[in-house]
Amino acid sequence: FHVDTDASEAEKGAYPYYMLKEIDEQPTVMRSLIKHYTTDDGSVIIDDALLDSMKKADRLYIVAAGTSYHAGLVGKEIFEGLAKVPTEVHVASEFGYNPPILSEKPFFIFLTQSGETADSRQVLAQVNKWGYESLTITNVENSTLSREATFTLLLYAGPEIAVASTKAYTGQIALEAILAKRLGEEKDVSAATSFNVARELTTVANGMQELVDEKGQYEQIAANALATTRNAFYIGRAIDYDVAQEAALKLKEVSYVQTEGFASGELKHGTIALIEEGTPVIAIITCAKTAKHTRSNTQEVLARGANVINIVSRNLAEDGDQIILPDVHSLLTPLLAIVPCQLLAYYTSLQRGYDVDKPRNLAKSVTVE
Ligand code: G6P
Repeated sequence: FHVDTDASEAEKGAYPYYMLKEIDEQPTVMRSLIKHYTTDDGSVIIDDALLDSMKKADRLYIVAAGTSYHAGLVGKEIFEGLAKVPTEVHVASEFGYNPPILSEKPFFIFLTQSGETADSRQVLAQVNKWGYESLTITNVENSTLSREATFTLLLYAGPEIAVASTKAYTGQIALEAILAKRLGEEKDVSAATSFNVARELTTVANGMQELVDEKGQYEQIAANALATTRNAFYIGRAIDYDVAQEAALKLKEVSYVQTEGFASGELKHGTIALIEEGTPVIAIITCAKTAKHTRSNTQEVLARGANVINIVSRNLAEDGDQIILPDVHSLLTPLLAIVPCQLLAYYTSLQRGYDVDKPRNLAKSVTVE
């Protein structure tokens, strides 16, 4: 494997901050994954030994931390949707204390940008002791988690320097889609055979480009809704809830606004008590089967004075929706929905006067338990 870690790539160039550069690089990351993992006729290149091992599994266990964990949540939808294999997602730091009851033939997937996260390494050591096979999906060639797992797939995203992870998240989701496509095809799942992953990810790359080209609007929304708020909520259902959790993490990491990602239907069971006049509630609406229900939740918070901002796929958009996302395959909408959220977090941090690349108390890679 060759990893694109040219020193020049790690330079900011004309960008004021790495985070903005890395947000902007996401269309390139999509194209680089297509280049590394698919051929011109659209077929997927994945090592046979890895496929054989995954094909035998009756359940996938995704283990990760932080943003990578959130990429795992979306991965569950993707592996179950395209390869029809039951998938569990676990926070690495919890796994050791509260291990799941394993299926007969488990297969482990470690998602990690750095390949060095101590919590994930500990789980992998345990998995190796048990004698199960594993895959590490990482951005760093020869990292510890890469060396210690049976198989590795690289993200080829170029170095990610900003502490808040952006392009690694979208890279991980795209690579999960590539892998799930190939696995599902091998198992003759029609959702996978009819899924042209190179074409779908090209549509994603173009859509991402449209979004990053319209940065001004996110700067404005951040100034109006987030620059001085004490707290904020991201809400969504199904795959949109997965994105809401990552969107909330982004905002809290770099702007120190207390932010929660919430399943929108769950608000009424307690959290709605926190909604006051002007509380920002950002709703993610890309999932056709839940759109109506999430909209009814936005009505509930609007009635209590919330400042609602909708992030909506074009095909589900209605008058008054503030942020419109280009349409993509229903399993890939997180790749687009997260982009405005990353930009909102970025601008909120700057408007509050913080160093967005180096948030307080955080490290890029946490190598202690
Ligand atoms: C740290 C970083 C996060 C990252 C997490 C997991 O907490 O600040 O941005 O998501 O570690 O890192 P990994 O390298 O395993 O993806």
